[in-house]
Amino acid sequence: MTLTNSSLQTNGDADSKRTGSTDPNLQAWVDEIARLTEPDAIVWCDGSKREANELSKLLVASGQLIRLNPEWRPNSFLARTDPKDVARVEGRTFICSTDEADAGPTNNWAEPSAMRAELRGVFAGSMRGRTMYIVPFSMGPLGGPISQLGVEITDSPYVVLNMGIMTRMGETVLTMIEAGDPWVHTVHSVGYPLVDQSGITRPDVEWPCNDDKYIVQFPDTREVWSYGSGYGGNALLSKKSFALRIASVMGRDEGWLAEHMLLIKLISPEGGVFHVAAAFPSACGKTNLSMLRPTIPGWQVETIGDDIAWLRQGEDGRLWAINPEAGFFGVAPGTGETTNPTAVSTMWGNTIFTNVALRDDGDVWWEGLTDKAPEHLIDWQGKDWTPGSGRTAAHPNSRFTVAAAQCPSIADDWEAAGGVPIDAIVFGGRRATNVPLVAQARSWKHGVFMGATISSEKTAAADGIVGELRRDPFAMLPFCGYNMADYWGHWLKVGKELGTNAPAIFQVNWFRKGPDGNFIWPGFGENSRVLEWMIRRIEGTADAVDTPIGLLPAEDGLNLDGLDLSKEAVDQLFAIDQNSWLAECDLTEEYFDKFGDKVPPALRAELASVRYHLKD
Ligand code: GTP
Ligand code: MN
Ligand code: MN
Repeated sequence: MTLTNSSLQTNGDADSKRTGSTDPNLQAWVDEIARLTEPDAIVWCDGSKREANELSKLLVASGQLIRLNPEWRPNSFLARTDPKDVARVEGRTFICSTDEADAGPTNNWAEPSAMRAELRGVFAGSMRGRTMYIVPFSMGPLGGPISQLGVEITDSPYVVLNMGIMTRMGETVLTMIEAGDPWVHTVHSVGYPLVDQSGITRPDVEWPCNDDKYIVQFPDTREVWSYGSGYGGNALLSKKSFALRIASVMGRDEGWLAEHMLLIKLISPEGGVFHVAAAFPSACGKTNLSMLRPTIPGWQVETIGDDIAWLRQGEDGRLWAINPEAGFFGVAPGTGETTNPTAVSTMWGNTIFTNVALRDDGDVWWEGLTDKAPEHLIDWQGKDWTPGSGRTAAHPNSRFTVAAAQCPSIADDWEAAGGVPIDAIVFGGRRATNVPLVAQARSWKHGVFMGATISSEKTAAADGIVGELRRDPFAMLPFCGYNMADYWGHWLKVGKELGTNAPAIFQVNWFRKGPDGNFIWPGFGENSRVLEWMIRRIEGTADAVDTPIGLLPAEDGLNLDGLDLSKEAVDQLFAIDQNSWLAECDLTEEYFDKFGDKVPPALRAELASVRYHLKD
C-alpha cells in the first residue's frame, strides 16, 4: 500500500480528535512524559489541514508568527527566533551510546544513565502552562520498505507546523503504530515553562527557548531528547537527530546507509535516466544542485531530495535510495532568481520563513533574493533596516520550510516506496585549492577514501598552499551517530555486498579559486556539464586520464561549449600540485591517527597509494 502525503491531509474534525492510543507502549510513554513535564493539555495531532490552520492562527494571535501578505505569499508565515537560538548547537549535541568508543572522537559522549538523570532534572515541569503535542510521523512514504516511523512529543506549535511540512505526519501513522510497526521515540521541549514550581505564572515570549540546551541521542534505544531550542535542526527531531544520527546507527546494525545527501534524477538528451546521490557539507550547495537547471541543451534534472537520503541494497542487487523527508528546510540567503530560480518558485505560498527580513508590503526578503535590496525592511531581529545599516537584513542561517511537492522540478516518482536505483555517488567540499573540479574514484574503496577526506579550508588559503583543513567526512561530521571510523568500515562493507552493482563514485569541487581569489568555475546551472561527464563515464563514452588522485576528464572530455572560460582557467581547475598534495596527505594521515586502530586498513592503503603515485 502506498499512501502519499496528501492522503494524510484529511479534513480532520477538531471535535473528533483522539485522546489517546490503543498501543500500550505509546500510551505509557506519553503518560510518562506528561507526568515528567506537567503540560496543561495534551493534543494528539492528526496532520489535517484544519489542524495546521488552527495552529497558525493561534501563533499569529499570540504574536509568535507573522502572517505574510496573502496577495504575494498565500498561507505563509514569518518566525523570528531569539538571537541566541539561530543554528544547530554542536557543542550541546550528545551521542549517549553505552560504550564511549562507539561515539568516537568526533562526537560528544555522555554516559547514558547519568545523562538520563540530568535530562529528568531539566525536563521536570518544563511544559507547565503549555500544550504538549503528540506528533506521529513517517520518514519516507508510508509503509515503504525503506521507511521508518517516529513520534515527536513537543511543546512548540511552531515545531508541529514545520513537522507537518517536513514529514508525512498524522493519524495514519498512529494506526500503523497501533498495528505493531516499530517507531523511534523523540521528545522536545523549548524549556520555557509558563508556570513555576510555586504556581507563579509568566507571560509567553515571541520565541521561547532556554540558554541551557541539550540535543541528546540514545542510539542503543533509538531515542532522542531535545531541550532548550526551538530552531530547526535542534527541534525538528525527524531531521538530523532521527534521519541521520539515529538512522545511521540503524543502518550500521541492519546493513543500510543514512546519508547527508541530495537525490536527483538526470535525463540525458537520448532519454537515458540516471539517479545521483551527492553529499556536501552544510552550506556547500546540496539544495542548489538538487534543483539545478542545466545550461547544456537536452539535459534535464529532476529533484527527489535536497538534504537526506536513505540507501539500501534492493532485490536486484543494486543500491536504491529514498528521500525520507517530505519538505525542504533550505538556507534562504543566496537563494535567488539567478542562483536557484526553482527554489524561489517552490516558495510561492504555504511556506514558513524563519529569520528572514519583512518587507513593507508584507512579503519577505533576504540577501541574494534580488540584486537590489528594498529601501526599507524590518530585519530578522524586528528592527528597522535600510541598505546603509551595515548589517544583513536576514540572518545568514535563515531558512524556508516548504513542501517538496510544491517544487516545479520534483520528479514524478519522488515518493516511490522502494526508491530509485543509484548510478552515481558524489562527494564535494569547499576547497579553494588542490581538489579538482571533478575526479572519478578508481574503485569503491577509493571512493570511500574520497568521502572520508571531504574538507574545507579553514583559512582563505593562497592558491597552491593547503591551509588548515576543516574535516567533514562524508559531510556527516555533526550527524554520524557512531564512531566515524566504524562508519567508514560500514561503507566498505556495503560496497563489498554491492560488488559489481555498486554505483560509480565521484568527487567534485565547485569552489576552487584562481590567483585573483575568485571562484574559477561559474557553478550553479553550469554544474550540469560536470554531471554530463559523470553520466558519459558511466555509459563508457567519455575518456579519463589516470592521475595519482583519481580519474580526471581527458583533454576536451568535459563539455565547455559556449562557456567563457580560458584554457588557463581550465588548467587551474584541474591542476594537481605534487607538493601541496603530499602536504595534504600528511594532514590526512594526522586526521586518520585520531581514530587509532579503528581506521579501516583499506583507507590507509588508499592513502599510501595516493602518496606512492604522487612521488612517481
Ligand atoms: P544545508 O541545507 O545546510 O545542509 O546546506 P546545503 O548543502 O543545502 O547548502 P546550499 O545549497 O544552501 O548552499 C548554499 C551556498 O552554496 C550558497 O552560498 C550558494 O551560493 C553556494 N553555492 C551553491 N552552489 C554553488 C556553485 O555551484 N558555485 C558556487 N560558487 N557557490 C555555490
Ligand atoms: Mn543539511
Ligand atoms: Mn540545504
